[in-house]
Amino acid sequence: MADEMGIFEVMYNCRAMRRLDTKPVPEELLRKLIDAANQAPSGSNAQNARWIVVRDPAIKQKLADLNREGVEGYITPQMGEDGAFGGDGKMARLAKAVLWQMEHMHELPALIVACMEYGREVPDDQAQRGGGSLWPGVQNLLLAARALQLGAAPTTLALRDQSAVREILNMPATMAALALIPVGYPLGKFGPVTRKPIDEIMRFDQWN
Ligand SMILES: Cc1cc2nc3c(=O)[nH]c(=O)nc-3n(C[C@H](O)[C@H](O)[C@H](O)COP(=O)(O)O)c2cc1C
Repeated sequence: MADEMGIFEVMYNCRAMRRLDTKPVPEELLRKLIDAANQAPSGSNAQNARWIVVRDPAIKQKLADLNREGVEGYITPQMGEDGAFGGDGKMARLAKAVLWQMEHMHELPALIVACMEYGREVPDDQAQRGGGSLWPGVQNLLLAARALQLGAAPTTLALRDQSAVREILNMPATMAALALIPVGYPLGKFGPVTRKPIDEIMRFDQWN
């Protein structure tokens, strides 16, 4: 398509979009996002990433409740004047968006849960171990969403209690949920990401 965004335009404009409309996202587009995620690389090409697209209101509510616990335990306590998310700067704006998402998560069109299948029981403290083979897929999904003009944001705060997540999603003990990505049509405006300048984060050959 002539008006399709180029890969670099997508990467540089793929902000976390937390404020989303309740308008449903067509199933075909949700499948397209997972198909894009599924093209990402994994260690030994093991392809152990699994994707649960949650649209059922009762299940969304349960995940939203877990997210609320996570946000209230981490973000809210740091929103005072002296806290990391206090004042009226960038971090405070981020916190406001996280709180908006917390209040509305249950009514967002789709909550995509990115999981790993470990093939054996995985203790909670090792659930993040397979992240290197999952997050490339998450990023593919975020980029695909942006290219399709859908809003999305990677989140993890709902997933601190893996046993609770397993029960909600009826997953076996061999699976763990590593990321939750709400997807929908954006209420806010898309825009460029803000990142550190490359000279600050890159060296040739050796660091010092
Ligand atoms: C590993 C990881 C965990 C994250 N967890 C959360 C989360 O629990 N809740 C949330 O609202 N955003 C979460 N984010 C989104 C980040 O806050 C966001 O990507 C970052 O602030 C950059 O935002 P920007 O791309 O809009 O500039 C997470 C991102 C990553 C990569």
